[in-house]
Amino acid sequence: MIRKATFQDVDVIESLLAPRAKVGTVLPRSREDIESSLRDFFVYESEGRVLGTCSLVHIAEKLVEVRSLVVDSAFGRKGLGTALVQACIDDALALGYERIFALTYVVPVFVKLGFHVANVSELPDKIWKDCQSCPKQNNCDETAVIRDLVTVKVEDLPGALRDPGSDPAISFED
Ligand SMILES: CC(C)(COP(=O)(O)OP(=O)(O)OC[C@H]1O[C@@H](n2cnc3c(N)ncnc32)[C@H](O)[C@@H]1OP(=O)(O)O)[C@@H](O)C(=O)NCCC(=O)NCCS
Repeated sequence: MIRKATFQDVDVIESLLAPRAKVGTVLPRSREDIESSLRDFFVYESEGRVLGTCSLVHIAEKLVEVRSLVVDSAFGRKGLGTALVQACIDDALALGYERIFALTYVVPVFVKLGFHVANVSELPDKIWKDCQSCPKQNNCDETAVIRDLVTVKVEDLPGALRDPGSDPAISFED
């Protein structure tokens, strides 16, 4: 089950993130930082145990970032990471964001969910605002992955797509 984090989860979020931050796969987050941005965090809980976490961080108008995605290594490759990113996508859509991105070393998790590999220049400079706390700072070697969240309404589609039957070039078999 994925749910929003509470203060009861701060210890486990800290313990999930710390070893991964040490090896540089996620950005370090202090306890104070986790507490002050707790509303951004989701946790994956199974049988009363938190096995993974991630956060959805507002960056700019209509742009949001998946950050601090971590799954307990004993439960890797079971779909937990995918479920956490999907929760972020759903939340971003519900909040009306138009783009979601991540900076990551694990591109396939995101590509399988419709993200594409992008040039960081597609993202505003603001994305670097938290990098001062990262040991890599300006030598970031992560890959940017982006997914557009804008959904097209049927009424906004061009005529032939809205009503394919009206276009003689588009035929249907019985
Ligand atoms: C990245 C991470 C969250 C993935 O969690 P997970 O629960 O293992 O991911 P999933 O089981 O949902 O994986 C979905 C797919 O992503 C890909 N994938 C997952 N982990 C991968 C890895 N380490 N390397 C390459 N591809 C990977 C696979 O295609 C996988 O599908 P498959 O198992 O059917 O082949 C987890 O490995 C982790 O905590 N890593 C350390 C921290 C980190 O790198 N976080 C990402 C920061 S953005």
